[in-house]
Amino acid sequence: MLIENYKSAYLASLEAAERIATQISNAQEKNENFVLGLATGSTPINLYQELVRMHKREGLSFQNVHTFNLDEYCGLRKTHMESYYYFMYEHLFSHIDIPTKNIRIPNGMLQENDVHNYCLDYEFQISELGGIDLQILGIGSNGHIGFNEPNCDVESITRKTELSQSTRNDATPSFGRLSCVPTQAITMGMQTILNAKEIYFLAFGEAKKDIVETALTKEISIEVPASFLQTHNKCTAFLDQYTCIKN
Ligand code: PGA
Repeated sequence: MLIENYKSAYLASLEAAERIATQISNAQEKNENFVLGLATGSTPINLYQELVRMHKREGLSFQNVHTFNLDEYCGLRKTHMESYYYFMYEHLFSHIDIPTKNIRIPNGMLQENDVHNYCLDYEFQISELGGIDLQILGIGSNGHIGFNEPNCDVESITRKTELSQSTRNDATPSFGRLSCVPTQAITMGMQTILNAKEIYFLAFGEAKKDIVETALTKEISIEVPASFLQTHNKCTAFLDQYTCIKN
């Protein structure tokens, strides 16, 4: 794990965006696709804003990019302002030239009978494109990555899962009331994430300080799913003045 400390979340986000843009452009020059795993939440907003800026001002094109989002709440329509579908269009997809057919966000409105095959197909689509070249990741205050909550299965692949109480509590301000926060989600699994060829792990702010230190410097344990990032051979942590880890 490569740990990079920045003076602010904003500067860390600019650097991550710059490197993603370079990887996309390099793939373009070779006429190759670039498969990007995407995260939602407050953490990657500046990164997406910078990618949008580079598209609008510097001609960065996303024509060769295929995206797979990490997760989606169950039971929210695409038009729901808290759905991750809504988030992705608001912060990224509506502002760039990615072909719509290249965008994949888990569908949280499936009939129960369809979930299993849908999740297998999500995995199939990832492998058909040669795997995820770069996965962007945040961390939940309980150490989750995607919606892989503490004590999940390390071997898990894309599936429907229950949200933990602490994750639902964290989401309550956005939804207004705890009872409005979904109880389930479709998420890429631990294996899906750890199979990415490269991972950019972003974690910012005072509230994340302790969990980041636990995940990145303490023993690997499924009680803190993000600690498994320590096992990945190409993972860069972009940290800010609060989450920074001194070597
Ligand atoms: P946040 O969420 O970026 O809004 O802090 C991160 C996560 O729960 O993975």
